[in-house]
Amino acid sequence: MLSRARTRRAIALLLGAAVLIVGCSSAPTSSRPATAQPPTPRPGTGPGPAATLPGQLGLPVAATLAAIPPDNPQTPEKVALGRRLFSDPRLSADGAVACSACHDPARAFTDGRTASVGIKGRLGERNAPTILNALYNKTMFWDGRAVSFEEQAVLPILNPSEMGQPDLDAAVAAIARDRRYEQAFQTVFGRPPNGADLTRALASYERSLVSFGSPFDSFIAGNGAAIGEPARRGWNLFIGKARCNKCHALSERRPDPTFFTDHRFHNVGVGIERHNVVALACQAQAQLNSGNRLAVDRAAIQSELSALGSFLVTKHPDDIATFKTPNLRNVLITAPYFHDGSARTLWDVVDHYNKGGMNNPWLDPDIRPLALSEAEIEDLVAFMASLTSAQYRQQGVRALARQSEFARRSRPERDTVQAFGPKPAQPDRALACMPAH
Ligand code: HEC
Ligand code: HEC
Repeated sequence: MLSRARTRRAIALLLGAAVLIVGCSSAPTSSRPATAQPPTPRPGTGPGPAATLPGQLGLPVAATLAAIPPDNPQTPEKVALGRRLFSDPRLSADGAVACSACHDPARAFTDGRTASVGIKGRLGERNAPTILNALYNKTMFWDGRAVSFEEQAVLPILNPSEMGQPDLDAAVAAIARDRRYEQAFQTVFGRPPNGADLTRALASYERSLVSFGSPFDSFIAGNGAAIGEPARRGWNLFIGKARCNKCHALSERRPDPTFFTDHRFHNVGVGIERHNVVALACQAQAQLNSGNRLAVDRAAIQSELSALGSFLVTKHPDDIATFKTPNLRNVLITAPYFHDGSARTLWDVVDHYNKGGMNNPWLDPDIRPLALSEAEIEDLVAFMASLTSAQYRQQGVRALARQSEFARRSRPERDTVQAFGPKPAQPDRALACMPAH
């Protein structure tokens, strides 16, 4: 075991925490020169934290160190540069949309919308996931079409419905004549601003966004009173009767109090009733070149093919409408839920699982009616609420009040008959345009 002091020093170094700021809305520390202020971002989006607190209770030290690639080491200057770029709207074609417009630090790096809105008010197809703890991802995006932050960052900059640049050089050109950027790129990389270094700096900043230190982490560390009785019952349901552990754990055989994801892709029956996925799959099969990442990105953000999930990337029939299992930390703050933002509250999410999702030929075998009582649903929500990091405690209190008010008035996903009924027979998987699998 590393000593706590050594752990803190190691993490601080790797996260570039010399510019450490605790909390999501704090002003820059006084040690930061005034000239390092990021440009004014779009209203409602503050500059992100320079880094969240290292040594937070629950922070997985080995996995954090392993998430830093040797060819892009963390330095405080690089993290600070990436932070500025992340909230700089000049990177977009119309100068109005920063990364932080859709990944707002004050909303746990999400935008609170069903689907994100990019330049000129263009609406995408997918809900913006949080960037907090995304350094532990094995793949990026709901469908896994990128594998690293460096690779990922290019796609929103170029997507016509997001930041809309014709190429990465256009984004670089928009900031390259800013003296502060010229200096910062020189200091960090020893050369003038360029596309590859821009994505490296963004990636370093994103790797600094660790978020643990929730009441649940205190509970796991041995403080039994850190969470209430309902949340404790909810955790037991999560790893037991409610079967959440089948996917929201590194291994379904062991409770996973850290990551809450298996890093895999599943069809849990979300949104499937709104799309003719068979016709879409045949269309993608015929038209989409999955080797072309830009083409997949446009299909995912700008077309109904989005509903096909990781099939867009693999073209394997088993992957139809499968999406990445998300980490559940800070989930209370990141509503609405699912890849299409179709669930408004955590109650809607649990109602969805309780009725066994929306049956379809590709539904994951682990999704089935759960027969959870109303009290058990409340307990599961209480457990998920306990995953809110200390830095978002206030937002968590407000979000819980808002969601429970919504849920009191409307529970569109609730289907008690189905929840307490048998598992329905699954329709046949054959695709008209492909041999049966
Ligand atoms: C217009 C809104 C918007 C903008 C601007 C935007 N994003 Fe995103 N971001 C999204 C959406 C929506 C997704 C999910 C898309 C998908 O999975 O197909 C996403 C996904 C991601 C992911 C994957 C997270 C995960 O867990 O898989 C990362 C990382 C990310 N964005 C970083 C960035 C960075 C860096 C920028 C700026 C260069 C940026 N985003 C700009 C909306 C946006
Ligand atoms: C078969 C695997 C599987 C099981 C079992 C499962 N999940 Fe999920 N979970 C997923 C996947 C995959 C997604 C993303 C689905 C999508 O967006 O289409 C998801 C999404 C979620 C989300 C939305 C998070 C967000 O950021 O939008 C929550 C909350 C959630 N699950 C909670 C639970 C709970 C609670 C249970 C147990 C009742 C559970 N899950 C059981 C795989 C699973």
